[in-house]
Amino acid sequence: MTLYESYARDLAEAIAAGLFRPGDRLPSIREACRQRGVSPATVFKAYYLLEADGLIRAAPRSGYYVNPRPADRRLPEPKPSRPRAPGISVDTQDLIYDIHASLKQRSGVPLGSPFIDPTLFPLERLRQSLVAAMRRLDPWRTVEDLPPGNRTLKRQVLKRYLVHGTKLDESEIVLTHGALPALHLCLAAVTKPGDAVVIESPTFYVALQALQRRGLKAIEVATDCREGIDLGRLAQVLEKRRPAACWLMTNFQNPLGSLMPDRKKRDLVALLTRHDVPLIEDDVYGELYRGDTAPRSAKSFDRRGLVMHCASFSKTLAPGYRVGWTAAGRFAEQVERLKLMTLLTGAIPTQAAVAAYLQDGGYDPHLRRLRRSLADQQAAVVGAVQRHFPEGTRVSLPQGGYFIWLEFEKQVDAVDLFWAATAQGVSIAPGPMFSARDEFRHCIRLNTGQVWSRKVEDAIVRIGRLVARQMPRSSPSPH
Ligand SMILES: Cc1ncc(COP(=O)(O)O)c(C=O)c1O
Repeated sequence: MTLYESYARDLAEAIAAGLFRPGDRLPSIREACRQRGVSPATVFKAYYLLEADGLIRAAPRSGYYVNPRPADRRLPEPKPSRPRAPGISVDTQDLIYDIHASLKQRSGVPLGSPFIDPTLFPLERLRQSLVAAMRRLDPWRTVEDLPPGNRTLKRQVLKRYLVHGTKLDESEIVLTHGALPALHLCLAAVTKPGDAVVIESPTFYVALQALQRRGLKAIEVATDCREGIDLGRLAQVLEKRRPAACWLMTNFQNPLGSLMPDRKKRDLVALLTRHDVPLIEDDVYGELYRGDTAPRSAKSFDRRGLVMHCASFSKTLAPGYRVGWTAAGRFAEQVERLKLMTLLTGAIPTQAAVAAYLQDGGYDPHLRRLRRSLADQQAAVVGAVQRHFPEGTRVSLPQGGYFIWLEFEKQVDAVDLFWAATAQGVSIAPGPMFSARDEFRHCIRLNTGQVWSRKVEDAIVRIGRLVARQMPRSSPSPH
């Protein structure tokens, strides 16, 4: 065995024995040379070997870190939801505002957050793109970029669709301040107050707020944490109720993390086409997949212009820049007009900055890094939940995005859990936030997008203990 192989073997044993834990930094090259009495080349080769085995990873300009171990599945998956059938008026709770307030404390651990760790974004590169774009700004652009908006950005967005095999016309794209206004505008384009809209159960609370704001009724349809909405149930609803629209998250649903398989998306579009019901496809997480193959959108199966695909750069590139869009099919002109009445246009500087960044070609390498980090972080969080949460916990294992959904026994009150965790500096997202009727009181959503650290692990240990206190009859965690 060579020197570097023997050093790599010793390190692998130290990692297996828990002397280096997931997220720990290995000694720097210089430290390792000193400790081990070997050359930098030997240390590098040993580290490359461990990296190739998936035990460690290099972080640019920072060093080598121990990877999370794949989670051994002790805890089962959550059960599919079973919402009651009739459509109901929506009243979203004050809880949503309390939770947003709790996320702003820097010292806290934001496991209830809808955002990933801000250090994972290429903010310096974006700053350069913003400065360069503003230096080059032709004063006439401030007038010419009024609707229909920044054309370079539109072309870059069209290119993203092409990369994923979908050819769209520029006239379909409406640029907005993030995905949220796009979703609201699409909803306004196809509904009138009193209409019913199909949503998933549970669903992202913004969908509930949007329905409430327009006086729409929600028809909640059963959704499972693997493959999304139950198409059989949806078909029954379409037969009996004639909803005005469906609002669904096909890729890495918030909060479940479910991924609708591509064949199911094709069936979904065929079903909606038969009933001529428009789909508002909320797809802000589609780029955050694991592995090599991007999931398709329902939009990619649409031949009739029925799907309004809404997305943004908020989750993947530029949080706070508020750059998003919809590819609104046959409703695009209506959506553009509604935009003119409400938002007028997007923000010219940030649209220009994102367009410049995309043109420079840094987006795909950034996405590859981000996907790797999110996969590692998710494995670490799920592993910690498996170790530190009591029996009786169920946890989802999504194939992308950065949320996991946890279900406990019925006696657990997720809102009490939220307040108890907040008192300890940890935020969580309690289940009732994601329901029009205060359901999922025994469920929580956790964010896995925070860079893994002891602090994050301690936060998970603490939530696990709080849950165990509310499930006293469950057998304690083995650790
Ligand atoms: C499912 C989903 N859709 C839309 C949005 C809003 O996206 P944006 O920030 O681009 O408005 C979010 C943000 O949390 C989300 O989770």
